[in-house]
Amino acid sequence: MNRGKFIVFEGGEGSGKSTILEMIYEYLIENNINCIKTREPGGIQISEDIRKIILDTKNTSMDGKTEALLYTAARRQHLVERVVPKLNDGVIVLCDRFIYSSLAYQGYARGIGMSDIYQINKFAVGEYMPDLNILFDVSPQIGLSRINKNKGREVNRLDLEKMDFHNKVREGYHKLYEGNKDKFIKIDAEKSIEEVFSEVKEIIINFIE
Ligand code: TYD
Repeated sequence: MNRGKFIVFEGGEGSGKSTILEMIYEYLIENNINCIKTREPGGIQISEDIRKIILDTKNTSMDGKTEALLYTAARRQHLVERVVPKLNDGVIVLCDRFIYSSLAYQGYARGIGMSDIYQINKFAVGEYMPDLNILFDVSPQIGLSRINKNKGREVNRLDLEKMDFHNKVREGYHKLYEGNKDKFIKIDAEKSIEEVFSEVKEIIINFIE
């Protein structure tokens, strides 16, 4: 059996990637395409437990490298427990965030350095790099204002970072996109949900066919 495709949704806060991921998942299921949806950090119990520690707004003293290692540990466990078995069964895996989140957030915005973050992540994921990354590009002003309007959404420790941090996250993603165009597709996520959904749907259908 052919390995399933590992498709990752990446982007800053309020980019709409999680909403679109949900819509794509529903669409694929309705069309009898075998797929799962999952997210990082989390997706399985151990990684959801690690997520609580990372994102707890009380943990203001968390060191940047500790944060990076926790994301990477959560990633490893989620990968071996949930993602790899599905890929081996030929299933399409739609994942909300993966390695490029760590490169943009911890590597670039936190200033730990992309090459160190890449190394710890390469140790954790080995050959299981995404087949496709879709980057939802939105200015932090627009992204954060969407989050503020969405009152039901929990606010996490990284949401509380200053605007400068979110600008750097975006800049980090742009650098990653420029250096890895073969693995990334960039979407203008400032458009309406309907427009973004139809663009992403086309991309994914073409990719899996
Ligand atoms: P979440 O509530 O899932 O946010 P979003 O809907 O924006 O994905 O929280 C995940 C947070 O963790 C988000 O602020 C991005 C951050 N993050 C990193 O900093 N590094 C990582 O490797 C990952 C996976 C997420």
